[in-house]
Amino acid sequence: MQTLTTRPGGALRGETDVPGDKSISHRAVMFGGLLARGVSHVRGWLRAGDTVATLSAVKGLGIQIDEADDTLVIHGDTPHAPTQTLDLVNAGTGIRLLAGILCGQPFPAVLTGSEQLCRRPMRRIIEPLRLMGAGITGRDECAPLTIQPAALKGIDYRLPVASAQVKSAILLAALFAKDETRITQPAPARDHTEIMLKAMGADIRMEGDTVILTPSATPLSPLDMTVPGDFSSAAFPLVAACIVPDSDITLRHINLNTTRTGLLDVLVRMGADITVIPTGKEAGEPVGDLHVRGGTLKGVEVGGEMVVRMIDEFPVLMIAATQAEGRTVVRDAAELRVKETDRIAVMARELAALGVTVEETPDGFIIEGGQAINGGHVHAHDDHRVAMSLAVAGLVAASAVHIDDAQCAGDSFPDFAGTMRKLGADMA
Ligand code: S3P
Repeated sequence: MQTLTTRPGGALRGETDVPGDKSISHRAVMFGGLLARGVSHVRGWLRAGDTVATLSAVKGLGIQIDEADDTLVIHGDTPHAPTQTLDLVNAGTGIRLLAGILCGQPFPAVLTGSEQLCRRPMRRIIEPLRLMGAGITGRDECAPLTIQPAALKGIDYRLPVASAQVKSAILLAALFAKDETRITQPAPARDHTEIMLKAMGADIRMEGDTVILTPSATPLSPLDMTVPGDFSSAAFPLVAACIVPDSDITLRHINLNTTRTGLLDVLVRMGADITVIPTGKEAGEPVGDLHVRGGTLKGVEVGGEMVVRMIDEFPVLMIAATQAEGRTVVRDAAELRVKETDRIAVMARELAALGVTVEETPDGFIIEGGQAINGGHVHAHDDHRVAMSLAVAGLVAASAVHIDDAQCAGDSFPDFAGTMRKLGADMA
C-alpha cells in the first residue's frame, strides 16, 4: 500500500503535459489489434494500470504488439481463441468494449476483472448484446462474462443511460452483424469510438441523436496516430490551479473533444480564469493548451446533459465546490454511484474525515462553499479519481493530507505526484 502525502504550499506555476487519453488508448489497442488488418502505429499511448490490462487481453487473443515506451506497433490480425480467462483488472472500458468485439468472434471467451470490476453493472451491455443474438452471460449480471459464438443481427436500440461504454460495446458487436444497427442516446456520450472507427474506414454516421453503423466485409484500416493528453487527467492540475491562490499554469496538448470538456464550462461559470488555446487536431480529436490562473470561484448548479460531458470530473469538482463562495448543487448524476466506487458516498465519507460536509442526494450532492479543509488521513478505496481529488484537497488544507492506497492513481495517471511537483505542489 502506498501513501501519498499532500501539503498546503505556494502557488502552482509552470507548464506540463499530461499522460495520453485513457479512453482513446483503450480503443487504439483494441481496434488496431482486433479490428484492423495491418500494422498500426500509436504514439503517446497511455501506459497505465487500466490500459495495460486491455493491452494484455489483446495480446491474450494472439495479437503481436511491439512496445517502446509510449509507442505501440500493433500487428492487427484475426484474433485467436484465448487459452485462458482474460483479466481486465479494474478497467470498465476494457471489459465492456472487449465484450462487444468478442461477441462477434467464432470462439468462446471468458472476461473477468478485480473484485471491484466484478461488482460493476454489466446488465447494461448484456441486454442489448443478447438482443443482437449474442451468447453472452454474466454472473448475477456482473463479470465474469462468458461469451459463446453466435450469429449477430443489427438492432434499433435506445440507450437507457447515456453511456459511451454501452454505446461502444453495441457498435463494436454491430461491426460483425448481418445488417445495420441504430443506437439512440438520451444525451451525447463521448464519441471516441465513432471517431476512430470512421477514421479506420467503418460505415458509421450520425442522424440527430442516433448513431448508425452498417457492417461491411472489408477489414478496417490500421491506425497511425498520436494520442492527445487526457482532459480527465488534466482536470486535477486544472482545478488545483483554480483554487490555489496566485497559481498560473499551462497544460499542453490536451484533448478538447466537447463530449469530454464539461468541467471547463462549469469552472468558467464558477468564475475561473481559463484560456483555451486550440492547436489543431490529432486523430480526428480537437487538441489545445489550457492556461489557468488562480482566483475566486462561486458555487454552481450542474445537471442534465452537462453531467454526461463531465462524468469523471465530479470528485474533483467537489474539491473546487468546497473552496467556492456559495452553494454547489449537482443533480442527474446517479451514474456516479456505479463507477470504480460509489463516488458520491466515498467522496462524502473521505471529505468528512477532513472536516468537510457534503450532503448526499440520490442522484448528486450539495456542497456549501467556503469550507475549511483539515489535514488528516483518508483512503482512496482503489479509485484513481478519488485518490487524485483528495490529493488536490490537500493543497488547500490546513495541514498535510495523507491518502492511503494511493497507488491506484496509476490506473489512469502514472506519476501523478511527479507532474504535480513539477508545477510546484508539495506532493510525494
Ligand atoms: C468511458 C466512458 C465513461 C467514463 C469512463 C470511460 C469510455 O463511462 O466514465 O471513465 O472510455 O468510454 P460510461 O460510458 O459508462 O459513462
